[in-house]
Amino acid sequence: EEWKDRGAAVATRQELDSNGRPVNKIIKKGVKDFNFGRTLGEGSYSTVLAATDRQTHREYAVKVLDKRHIIKEKKVKYVNIEKDALNRLTEHPGIVRLYYTFQDERSLYFVLDLANAGELLGVLKRMTTFDEECTRFYAAQILDSIAYMHSRGIIHRDLKPENVLLDEQMHTKITDFGTAKILDLKRSHDGGTGGDAVGDPLDGVEQERANSFVGTAEYVSPELLTDKNACKASDLWAFGCIVYQLLAGRPPFKASNEYQTFQKIVALDYAFPLGFPPVARDLIERLLVLDPAKRLPIDHIKSHPFFDGIQIGKGLWRQKAPRLR
Ligand code: ADE
Repeated sequence: EEWKDRGAAVATRQELDSNGRPVNKIIKKGVKDFNFGRTLGEGSYSTVLAATDRQTHREYAVKVLDKRHIIKEKKVKYVNIEKDALNRLTEHPGIVRLYYTFQDERSLYFVLDLANAGELLGVLKRMTTFDEECTRFYAAQILDSIAYMHSRGIIHRDLKPENVLLDEQMHTKITDFGTAKILDLKRSHDGGTGGDAVGDPLDGVEQERANSFVGTAEYVSPELLTDKNACKASDLWAFGCIVYQLLAGRPPFKASNEYQTFQKIVALDYAFPLGFPPVARDLIERLLVLDPAKRLPIDHIKSHPFFDGIQIGKGLWRQKAPRLR
């Protein structure tokens, strides 16, 4: 068992040993410490349940993964990647925080921030499109979160509106790090285009995943399709697709099947709908650039006129969400 539980020792309690002497006993959080409630989401290898800490009454989202299924389907590596990535990303309000992990005979448990308002995709679908102000507000938070992730050496690689959750303040929380790339922090100061995976033990695996790509094709960067290689700028491609989608109501590259979607991506075959805001268009045109090295870097995105009037940084997370329009 390689699995090491996170934050398992959450407190110590003084108890008396058999000789009546006080000893500090470590208290571990476990399944028994939570009351499980409604189902928040279901994936192919996991179920996310709302749960309340019996002692603190704090609410969490608990991701429950079936061990047998994970082992049978050879997904152990991805479960570990998700845990390792989340363990590097515990100090940002825009990332779903991992509080504890534990297990029982059957399952692994990830105790996460609860994002009560669900997926950004659901909110967008209800609204059809967002106006510029709403788009700026959500995009700024996503961007600030990407900047933090990248500064911590994590490339998400599957950013899309389903993986952007919202809390009750309508602040975003990025989730689903199962396909993240974890960079060697010492070597990742490369100007933002790449960096190596730790010792690159994943090379063969990534090849396999790129070839048997499943999931949402619409946000995949051209470099992943052509070179089977993702870099930090690949997340910025996805970010460009998300900003486009918030304003247009649909992603820029969409066809009736994955193959045709991929063809559109590598040909940069997309168009803006009539009336698309010109400043947003300018930003997106600088993000949806085939060569990842020529995509606008994060600092330039932050200072792009589209984000005029919004402070990207700490104050962002105290800002009140605009009324959805
Ligand atoms: N669905 C998946 N993860 C979730 C989370 N952390 N909060 C709310 N719903 C979720």
